[in-house]
Amino acid sequence: MIVCYLKSEVKNELKASIINKDIIGLVPTMGSLHKGHLSLIKNAIENCDEVWVSIFINPTQFNNESDLKNYPKNIKKDINLIKSVSKKIKVFCPEINEMYERGLNYKQYDFNGIDSKLEGKYRKGHFNGVATIVSKLFKLFKPNQAFFGEKDFQQAQIIKRLIDLEKHKTKLIICPTVREKNGLAMSSRNSLLSKKSRENSSIIFHNLNYVKTHFKKTDFDEIISKCIKSINSCDGFKTEYFEIVDSFSLSKQKKYSADKSYRVFVSVIVDEVRLIDNILLN
Ligand code: PAF
Repeated sequence: MIVCYLKSEVKNELKASIINKDIIGLVPTMGSLHKGHLSLIKNAIENCDEVWVSIFINPTQFNNESDLKNYPKNIKKDINLIKSVSKKIKVFCPEINEMYERGLNYKQYDFNGIDSKLEGKYRKGHFNGVATIVSKLFKLFKPNQAFFGEKDFQQAQIIKRLIDLEKHKTKLIICPTVREKNGLAMSSRNSLLSKKSRENSSIIFHNLNYVKTHFKKTDFDEIISKCIKSINSCDGFKTEYFEIVDSFSLSKQKKYSADKSYRVFVSVIVDEVRLIDNILLN
């Protein structure tokens, strides 16, 4: 299996594919791969001639040093997992200097306000960091398709905007959230939870579904305070935000109107780990 560490190696690898007009698929990741990533990779294999997985823990998208320090890392295991899916997949796992030659800075983007909502309120600069690294990856790979998970729906909207702003010729593919048996959305951070908290985390998806059942007939504030109370009743759980928003603008909504599409978003701190999730309501 081909594993590249340098951009120059990637460019060399891509030469033949570009001449052959192969459809290039990119799955950007920060490693610690789980079934959610595998579903992105499988989707890419089905739709592309050549699939690349990038593994890079991007420092500029962390607004909290201990979050970056504690972020799970296991490159060898990740590479073996990818190999078990297909040896044809190519991997790019650069060192920090390779991606940030001129220091750890992010570019400031105009995301039309999407970046100041939900995650953006709690993670200052996070989306500029995400867009900076994804832009670097898009410029390097020039992928025809790039695969992201619906669990990070707001991130996917940011990438959509980045594609427009920088005129990348990449098609954004958003793949459905993969869940553990109890409903907890797959995330690399789940491995940091205690066994008990991981079990109790089923309460998050349970409450998202509660909203889906009731949002057409109940005042949003009433549903939200019920859900926050329910989640916070679990030992060590603290809801950071729980919002029903317009699916397109991601701005907070108060009550149901039949001509609109809604999503519910949540962030919960569990054992100092941030868990996020969201579902489409209609
Ligand atoms: O979703 C992630 O894992 C990261 O935000 C991404 C898109 C790989 C950028 O570092």
